[in-house]
Amino acid sequence: MFTVYIYVLDTLADWELGYVTAELNSGRFFKKDAPEVSVKTVAISKEPVKTMGGLTIVPDRSIRDIEVDEKAPREELELLLEAGRCAPTSSNSQSVGFTVLDQEFETLRPRIWKSFARLAREGGRKLLLRRYESYLAHPEEPDTLFYGGTQMIAVTSEPPIDGALALANMELMAHALGLGALYCGFAVRAIDGDPDLRAYFGITEKRKLDGCLIVGRTDLRFHRTAPRNPPRVAWK
Ligand SMILES: Cc1cc2nc3c(=O)[nH]c(=O)nc-3n(C[C@H](O)[C@H](O)[C@H](O)COP(=O)(O)O)c2cc1C
Repeated sequence: MFTVYIYVLDTLADWELGYVTAELNSGRFFKKDAPEVSVKTVAISKEPVKTMGGLTIVPDRSIRDIEVDEKAPREELELLLEAGRCAPTSSNSQSVGFTVLDQEFETLRPRIWKSFARLAREGGRKLLLRRYESYLAHPEEPDTLFYGGTQMIAVTSEPPIDGALALANMELMAHALGLGALYCGFAVRAIDGDPDLRAYFGITEKRKLDGCLIVGRTDLRFHRTAPRNPPRVAWK
């Protein structure tokens, strides 16, 4: 999936765009397996725009909201770190370590996938290997390890509960900022299973990798939380 932005402004010649937007949006003549296109309007602000044909368009985005590469800006990543930093730690040890894959995310993605595939092969996990093959066929598309995320924060700590608490805080902050966030246990296993990756992320016998939070911009908005079972609770 990728997004085509249409810049809209007052007096827009609305008839000129009609054919192309209809085909991009419906995709009815795309070749088989072509990625879907999301069509969005963008303008100088989100104020309604009047076309030359007299139609009113409320822009989906203001240009201020758009990062061309759709990555989370550094200030937002810093807010995630701030949320992680403020989480409680046992004995106030503050041992939690963060590695932010921002510039190097795309370089590390194939290496993490490779380790994932080796573990899947060794464990005879055919379905997981199929995920790797799909990724190899279209490495530029969102995959089933990182789901289109653009950055990753790996969290290490000495008592693992500290890292887990930091991750939970960071996920809440991601949602508050409107970012998508995914805990990726598969990435944790893949990193843990490769000595070079372990060294890259600063993992040692004492310092474990507690979790990897994948983040990225998303247009999705959730109107309720995911349904959960009743609590497994013993009132005593
Ligand atoms: C520690 C942890 C590891 C996870 N690892 C993965 C993963 O590797 N891949 C994945 O697709 N989802 C992963 N998830 C996401 C869960 O599958 C997801 O949170 C769960 O299905 C509940 O959905 P919700 O997050 O919408 O509530 C992980 C979640 C947690 C808490």
